[in-house]
This record gives sequence, C-alpha cells and structure tokens, in this order.
Amino acid sequence: MAEKHFKYVILGGGVAAGYAAREFVKLGLKAGELAIISKEAVAPYERPALSKGYLFPEGAARLPGFHVCVGSGGERLLPEWYKEKGIELILSTEIVKVDLASKILISAAKTTFTYEILLIATGSTVIRLSDFGVQGADAKYIFYLRDLDDADHLVEAIKVKEGGKAVIVGGGYIGLELGAAMRINDYDVTMVYPEPWCMPRLFTAGLAAFYEGYYATKGIKIVKGTVAAGFDTDANEDVCSVRLKDGRVLDADIVIVGVGGRPLTALFKGQVEEERGGIKTDGFFRTSVPGVYAIGDVATFPLKLYNEMRRVEHVDHARKSAEQAVKHIKETEGGEAVEEYDYLPYFYSRAFDLSWQFYGDNVGETVLFGDNNPESPKPKFGTYWIKDGKVVGAFLEGGTPEENKALAKIARIQPPVESTDLLIKDGIGFACKF
Ligand code: FDA
Ligand code: NAD
Repeated sequence: MAEKHFKYVILGGGVAAGYAAREFVKLGLKAGELAIISKEAVAPYERPALSKGYLFPEGAARLPGFHVCVGSGGERLLPEWYKEKGIELILSTEIVKVDLASKILISAAKTTFTYEILLIATGSTVIRLSDFGVQGADAKYIFYLRDLDDADHLVEAIKVKEGGKAVIVGGGYIGLELGAAMRINDYDVTMVYPEPWCMPRLFTAGLAAFYEGYYATKGIKIVKGTVAAGFDTDANEDVCSVRLKDGRVLDADIVIVGVGGRPLTALFKGQVEEERGGIKTDGFFRTSVPGVYAIGDVATFPLKLYNEMRRVEHVDHARKSAEQAVKHIKETEGGEAVEEYDYLPYFYSRAFDLSWQFYGDNVGETVLFGDNNPESPKPKFGTYWIKDGKVVGAFLEGGTPEENKALAKIARIQPPVESTDLLIKDGIGFACKF
C-alpha cells in the first residue's frame, strides 16, 4: 500500500481548497509541505461559473478560464502554479476512509496519506430525487449540477435534444439559474416547485413576484405548489415526461433537478463534533479535533454578528473561511495574530440580464422599494429587512458597484429605521447615505 506524508493536507479540491492554497503561499509555504486531494480531475475552479457562463450557447466559459481565484478578481491559479509552488495536486483521487485520531486518510485506490494538519474542504453534494424514492428518477437525461463532469454531461445533452422541452425541478438557486440557461439555449422551459414562490429561503413574496413575472416574459412556465412524483421513459430509456403529485404530466426531453445540497461530512461521522448538519468549528475554523480545520460548505461556525452558529453554502464564505483557517495555522507557527472570523453573509445570483446581491440577515419585517415591474426596460428594486427597529438585511436587483457596497455597509452597521415610509421613498438612496 503506497503511503505519502505531508505537513498540510486539504481534503477536497474546490473553491475553499484553491483559496486556502493561495493563502498558504502568501504567508509562506515550503515545497512539498502541502497537498490537495480531490475527487475531481481538474485544479480548483470557481464553481459558480457552472450554472452561468458554462452553459451559454455561444462564447461559453471553459477551463482554464475560470480556475480560482479569478472569481474575486485575483490571480488565476493554473495547474502549473501549484507545481511551481511545490504544492502537490492529487487529482481524481477519492478519499474513502478517514481516521482523524491517527491522522490517516485512505483513498479508493488504497493510497494512505498522513498529515500534521488537515483542512476538511469536501463541500456539498446534491440531494437526489431517488433519495426520496421518486419513481424513475434514475432515467437518462435527468441531470443534477455540482461539478464539471455534471456540467459537461448537461452541455452534451443540450446539443443532443436541441430545442426540446426542459423541466426544471426546484425553485432555488439551481432552479432559477438553470431555468434561465435552458431558455437561453432555446429550450421550452417549465419550472416546478412545491412552495408558493421561488427561492423561499431568501425571497419575500414581493421579490419573488418580480422574478416569476420576468421569467414569464421570457416564455418560462412555472408550476407551483407541487412536486415531481415520478418520471416516464421512452423506448431508449430517456426521460420523456414528469408526473406531478397533483396529477399533471409534463413532457420533457431534459430534466434538471435542483432540490438542495447536503454537506459531505459522512467520512468524519462520530470522529468530530457536528452542529446544524455541518462540522462544528470556532471562529478560526478549528474543529473539535486538534490539528483539524473545516472550511467552506461543511463548516458550522460562529456568526459573530448574529451571535449564532451557521452553515453557509456560498462562494464568498468558502473563500474567506479558507483564508481565515490558513491565517490561523500560520499564527500558531509564529505568524501574525488573526482576529476571530466576523462574517457578513453575502449571496448573489445572475440570470438573463438580471443580477442581484444580498447582504446580512433576512429576518424581521420587510419593505420593498423601487421599480419591480417585470416589463420595465431596466427594473431596479430592492428590499430591506428590519428587526428591532434596525436594518439587518438588504437586497438589490440591478445595483451599481457603489450601491452594492452601500448595501454591505448598512447590513453591517445596522442603522435604525425612523419610518418605513421613508425607507420605501428613499429606496437605495437610504443605504447610500451611510
Ligand atoms: P466545493 O464543492 O467547491 O469543493 C469540494 C471539493 O471536494 C470538490 O472538488 C469535491 O469533488 C471534493 N471532494 C468531496 N469529497 C471528497 C472525497 N471524499 N475525496 C476527495 N475529494 C472530495 N455560490 C455563490 O455564492 N454564488 C453563486 O453564483 C454560486 N453558484 C453555484 C453554482 C453551482 C452549480 C454550484 C454547485 C454551487 C454554486 N454556489 C454559488 C455555491 C458555491 O460554489 C459553494 O458554496 C462553494 O463551491 C463551496 O466551496 P467548498 O470548497 O466548500 O466546496
Ligand atoms: P436550494 O436550497 O437553493 O433550493 C432548493 C429548492 O428545491 C427549494 O427552494 C424548493 O423549491 C425545491 N424543492 C425541495 N424539494 C423539492 C421537491 N421534492 N420537488 C421539487 N422541488 C423541491 O438548492 P439548489 O438550488 O439545489 O442549490 C444547491 C446548492 O448550490 C446550494 O448549496 C446553493 O447554495 C448552491 N448554489 C448557489 C448559487 C448561488 O449562490 N447563486 C447558485 C447555484 C447553486
């Protein structure tokens, strides 16, 4: 059995891994000290591209164009970069067994890796309809989207079933971004989700009404309040229709499912403390096991601003948590002291020519401001969330970079609200005053 030892091992080769590697190099790394072990066949890349530019019918994004850290305006880390820095990129390698107490990782090909410090960066996987026993959910041309392979299969299918019918199951991030992508690819698109409006995790009814209206102007049909109960296939065993729980049947050449993510923590079960479905960490991303850190989607960390433990499945946190953990590792080796993580939640999405940003917390009462008519040539609107008389969250569609900065600022400083009428009247102008 082959055996390899590294001072630092990052388990997972996604967004957090790439940003952690850059931080290690920035703070001082010797050749041969760091390895990244990844199931994927490619160096870390900016995962958000997969549901956006990667699916464009023309001028699509392709690697090496979107390796980390281009998504945050940084240097693009090509495979050669890792080589130059003496970082071992161990790709197409799945770790199947972990012993945190003995500091051992074992791959599917039976290679043993030992380490002094481990960063767990395994991210999330998709929730599958077959997990709920939905009949026929393994049929061909039913897709999920998590990694490059998934995206490549989808791109291929889009060509094969050119101009066909697409059914999108789920009304969250994947649902909304993929619904748009399939329409841009000239598919006849129907979206199905159980809730009364899309993206209920974040959107208010007022925000959702705009996006649903806008999608309707693009010709997308939306079926709400029901779920996919089963799938039928044709003679080739390709999916051909989606049976809904309410009895309706939708024809489909391609089905894309986005019904949520699940953090990949199974390998560590019983070996490390967990909370809220993730691996529990402190504000430096240390887990309950000495020498083991957890970053990105898998970490449940103290969100200082709201004084509670949270897990965040978004790219901004993946990047920042990675940098924070590495800074802390370097502090323990005599480097500069680092402050506890003080994260301001930041989510965004882009679809068609729309683009929104959200900062803060979506709790409390809400006010909707601006022009949210889906037929407007340039819709621009937003929402503030108000709790205990203070603005705690802010959302803006179609903002300028300066306005988006102002959103972040008020979500952080949480200014008091004298009158909600004034907030509605001032709109984004309110945020820009601070
Ligand atoms: P990430 O999933 O990036 O990486 C985990 C890595 O670990 C993968 O390479 C995986 O293969 C590997 N791995 C897992 N288990 C392993 C094992 N046992 N052995 C070896 N390797 C293993 N967020 C946002 O804010 N804005 C956006 O627009 C988008 N868009 C978006 C689109 C799509 C299609 C997805 C799937 C996700 C997004 N996100 C997003 C979410 C964002 O991409 C996500 O939060 C980060 O990628 C999380 O980074 P991590 O490094 O934690 O996991
Ligand atoms: P999500 O949690 O955003 O949305 C899941 C949606 O699934 C729910 O809103 C609901 O409408 C729907 N749903 C649940 N059960 C269903 C069922 N049985 N039938 C039909 N619909 C059902 O998750 P997602 O959209 O799958 O995204 C997966 C992961 O990727 C998440 O971690 C997300 O944060 C990430 N992601 C983020 C972005 C972004 O930040 N812009 C973009 C894409 C993906």
